[in-house]
Amino acid sequence: MEFGAAGPLRGRLGVPGDKSISHRALMLAAMARGRSVIHGLSGGSDVAATAAALRAMGVRIQAREGGWTVDGVGTGCLLQPGGALDMANSGTSARLLIGLLASHPLIAGFTGDASLSRRPMARVIEPLERLGADIAAPARRLPLIVRGRCPAVPLTHRMVVPSAQVKSALLLAALNISGVTTIVEPVATRDHSERMLARFGADISVEGPEIRLRGEAELKPCALRVPGDPSAAAFLLVAALVVPGSEVTVENVGTNVYRTGLFDLLREMGADLSFANVHEEGGEPVADVTARHSVLSGIDVPPDIAPRMIDEFPIFFVAAAFARGATRTCGLGELRFKESDRLATMAAGLRAIGVRVEETTEGLTIEGSGGEPIAGGTSIPSRLDHRIAMSFAVAGLHARAPVTVDDMRPADTSFPGFETLLRSLAP
Ligand code: S3P
Repeated sequence: MEFGAAGPLRGRLGVPGDKSISHRALMLAAMARGRSVIHGLSGGSDVAATAAALRAMGVRIQAREGGWTVDGVGTGCLLQPGGALDMANSGTSARLLIGLLASHPLIAGFTGDASLSRRPMARVIEPLERLGADIAAPARRLPLIVRGRCPAVPLTHRMVVPSAQVKSALLLAALNISGVTTIVEPVATRDHSERMLARFGADISVEGPEIRLRGEAELKPCALRVPGDPSAAAFLLVAALVVPGSEVTVENVGTNVYRTGLFDLLREMGADLSFANVHEEGGEPVADVTARHSVLSGIDVPPDIAPRMIDEFPIFFVAAAFARGATRTCGLGELRFKESDRLATMAAGLRAIGVRVEETTEGLTIEGSGGEPIAGGTSIPSRLDHRIAMSFAVAGLHARAPVTVDDMRPADTSFPGFETLLRSLAP
């Protein structure tokens, strides 16, 4: 797919429902007893993998005109699946569902695509084994088999790697464990699970870095509205920042503070980004976010912002490629364990389209074009990574020769319709 220089991008539009929140909404609704209704659920294939797995364990999930209905079976009441659960490309489905099943009396196989089968699972396996689950994973990766333990023992776990997925896997396991599970999180990560557990009526408390959840509580079904995904909006907003003359508004974007690191950094670099219609929806803050073309200035990125923008580095690197001067990042080793090795993939791809990049073990230094178009003119492999595919599509919009992305299908995992929407902004 070819992405060439585009005229000013203009428009007001929405993006798919937040992927992280959608996974959690399905799983917690499945654990409540009775019918929940979810509006704005992500239509991406990652969330579809979670829905399919829950259906395979006896949860009725239906798309209806007024939203999705989930007929929850109650905590601890999932049924034995008939075959392996296919997680496709979705790390969140895999890690969270492994957690959920760890305290159920079930045996389940987990498989995934080539990208997911390379990603580390030890970070969830180890704490879940401590609570009693038996997880057969010779390579500490997928494919693996979970033999859940019921009753399992409540844990106190101190997080080693800052990871909302690991934290959430433990919280989901804790739902079916009698007693209090405590998680200590020295570096805070997205708190969608904590917020949503409270909404479903779980007995959860958060005091500083300590999260406590009392298990075996009855979750109550509820009606939820999922905000637009800030990680999806990021591609359209950065596109507007780099293409001269652009102004784009994305409506109803989630602005949870653990997800808005990118917006903070871009503003520091001089981006004209503004929030309007700020309000709360379904226990999460949301806003309409407008980006207007801006010439950015390179910066040194403090590594402690990483957990607040962990998924946004690929598109941030594209923004940096158009900034004035150098942008330096460090402390980003985690990016090597995402859908692809995002430091290596971005460094190679940016170099191929004419950007000066230096790669270290834990970051990239990018010399920006000062707002001028970059060279482009080559094909970039997206490597089964949605955010790589979308990032290079955006880079092509301000290039002297088009950028080709070999395969845009990965974008469907989080942002179905991305390409059409992007092209519609510069008709
Ligand atoms: C996610 C957490 C992040 C993020 C992923 C979604 C989540 O992963 O990269 O896309 O929904 O909890 P880690 O928590 O492993 O950093």
